[in-house]
Amino acid sequence: MDSNDNTPPVDAAYEKAQAQEWRHALDATSDHRAAGIASDPTEIAVVAEPVLAGVGAAAVAVTADLDAPPPPRQHIADPRDLAIAIRGLRVSYGSSEILHGVDLDAPRGGVLALVGPSGCGKTTLLRSLNRLTELAPTAKIDGKVLLDSDDIYGPKVDLNLLRRRVGMVFQQPNPFPMSIFDNVAFAIREQAHRRPTRTSLMPQVEHALERAGLWHEVKDDLNRSALSMSGGQQQRLCIARTLAADPEVLLMDEPCSALDPRSTARIEELIVQLAGSLTVVIVTHNLAQARRIADYAAFLLNGDLIEQGPAEQIFETPREQSTRDFVAGIFG
Ligand SMILES: Nc1ncnc2c1ncn2[C@@H]1O[C@H](COP(=O)(O)OP(=O)(O)O)[C@@H](O)[C@H]1O
Ligand SMILES: [Mg+2]
Repeated sequence: MDSNDNTPPVDAAYEKAQAQEWRHALDATSDHRAAGIASDPTEIAVVAEPVLAGVGAAAVAVTADLDAPPPPRQHIADPRDLAIAIRGLRVSYGSSEILHGVDLDAPRGGVLALVGPSGCGKTTLLRSLNRLTELAPTAKIDGKVLLDSDDIYGPKVDLNLLRRRVGMVFQQPNPFPMSIFDNVAFAIREQAHRRPTRTSLMPQVEHALERAGLWHEVKDDLNRSALSMSGGQQQRLCIARTLAADPEVLLMDEPCSALDPRSTARIEELIVQLAGSLTVVIVTHNLAQARRIADYAAFLLNGDLIEQGPAEQIFETPREQSTRDFVAGIFG
């Protein structure tokens, strides 16, 4: 079993940051909502050579060998069109290097699954894609993470804007202690220059809840406390809250590990539906889940990216012995 129990400092720091943002958002005098500037137009965009292109991966790779057939794919992600290109990413906590120079592609509109044994650095890698890793006091990060060819570690990056463009859903559902409506409206209010009326927010709130597959369950009860929902609903609400910011990339760190099988199936279905309109990078310890939903997969071991490619290739015909052993369940 994998878990994030070994990373409380990061979670605590992130939750504190979120709580601070929340207070700012409710403060009408706050000026931090002014739209950010992500990149300097004079900077030259870096165009990454796709790592995956050499793999010859055009086909969607969903393996229907498990209990339920995977939902039909609407979209085939082109491995040469990258939403995210990670190049030479090194992360250390104190004197201990956790990621040893990772190169990884996330094709636009695809579902990329990160798999590997517990402690290999999956969460660290995922959190480095929207700069949450650096909330850990001892973290040191080197290398590039190109989001649409702009390095998120470059100068003048607006972190609030980055974290809206690259949203994150955590292992434990973490709705804010407020109503369903206010949870979803949170990011929209935060981006608005003037406090919008509830009526004006409704279409966006409805759209985000629709995309998260929750609207029909909650539409008559939007004032209910989010904390009174079931775990599966809370996780879909967290997805809706993230979607309300209209992200280009959705990061998910074992989003189903606290959920029952039925709620897990709902979220898997949702991820497949969302692919295409955005790019999903998901960490999962559940290989069956990765096979069901991913079109690309990457295997990480002791901080090294061992192998990446179309999910079918990684799971059915891995090139490396360690990947073969891992997918065969010999370790992990
Ligand atoms: N904030 C932190 N401070 C120090 N070490 C950390 C921190 N977060 C993670 N680690 C260490 O980094 C390694 C990789 O952890 P993690 O990225 O959570 O792996 P995974 O998600 O694959 O289980 C582990 O050895 C873990 O103990
Ligand atoms: Mg983890």
